[in-house]
Amino acid sequence: APAILKNRPRVLVTRRWPESVEAQLAERFDTVFNVDDTPMTPAEFRDALTRFDAILPTVTDRLTTEAFDISSPKTRLLANYGVGFSHIDIAAAKAHGIAVTNTPDVLSECTADLAMTLLLMVARRAGEGERELRAGQWTGWRPTHLVGSKVSGKTLGIVGFGRIGQAMAQRAHFGFGMKILVQNRSRVAQEVLDRYQAVQVDTLDDLLPACDFVSMHCPGGAENRHLINSRRLDLMKSDAFLINTARGEVVDENALVQSLTYECIAGAGLDVFDGEPKVSPALMEFDNLVLLPHLGSATAETRTAMGERVLSNVIAFFEGSTPADRVA
Ligand code: DGY
Repeated sequence: APAILKNRPRVLVTRRWPESVEAQLAERFDTVFNVDDTPMTPAEFRDALTRFDAILPTVTDRLTTEAFDISSPKTRLLANYGVGFSHIDIAAAKAHGIAVTNTPDVLSECTADLAMTLLLMVARRAGEGERELRAGQWTGWRPTHLVGSKVSGKTLGIVGFGRIGQAMAQRAHFGFGMKILVQNRSRVAQEVLDRYQAVQVDTLDDLLPACDFVSMHCPGGAENRHLINSRRLDLMKSDAFLINTARGEVVDENALVQSLTYECIAGAGLDVFDGEPKVSPALMEFDNLVLLPHLGSATAETRTAMGERVLSNVIAFFEGSTPADRVA
């Protein structure tokens, strides 16, 4: 039975969500949907903080220090629709006594599927092939046509071994017989590594020279900004590929452009960009770069599950219990 909250909290949903979850939100809360489906600006956010009990933002809402610059917010909960929350100034939320939740688990498989899609596409030159065929330029099979790199049996470096990193290891190890190297900010339990016959290395600098593929699965934010910079791209093998489904800022895009220009790495697959949805025109120049518009969690099943996860967090919070996915 649906949980009925006595005083229907006033809730702002900043983007359009899958219909079934929007219906549940409208049923349980005094819900306002941003029907324009546009990202919120810091000024709009400041205004919303004075009017809503809870705000349900996404990665496109820039909840920066400036956005929290008000004296006494009405808002008590930011229930983010998404697992990454580096777009929210957590310290500012905490300073105002505002709780923050996210949506882990439900998107790990689909995000890892997409990372594997990018990895396969770039290694097997699938984007290039599709563009050629659609342009009517395919002249037929030949032994030297669009020859890519074999994936099976190669070494994959996973940066960040949380839920999504582990889902990636699962696919790469069991599906493609890849050897898994892991770099993570803390020590990963041996039994977790053993599941994928993975080996943890101490530093990113140890990992990069040893890998044929490097896939980013760490959080974004200031701490990991430009984790992959020009020095580290130089540490990669010249026939290696970089995959990023984490956050745009973890890769220095200018350094990546340089690295691709001088063929210091073989290619890259990106689902996220620094300053997205703007994509640096320089990135468009490379055929050995696969570019996708932040599709990691974009399946009907996952987007609905993410909404349901937010819903549970909001309900728990206003019922007075601790939401399962509280991050601050
Ligand atoms: C996530 O869940 O972090 C996605 O990138 C969208 O925010």
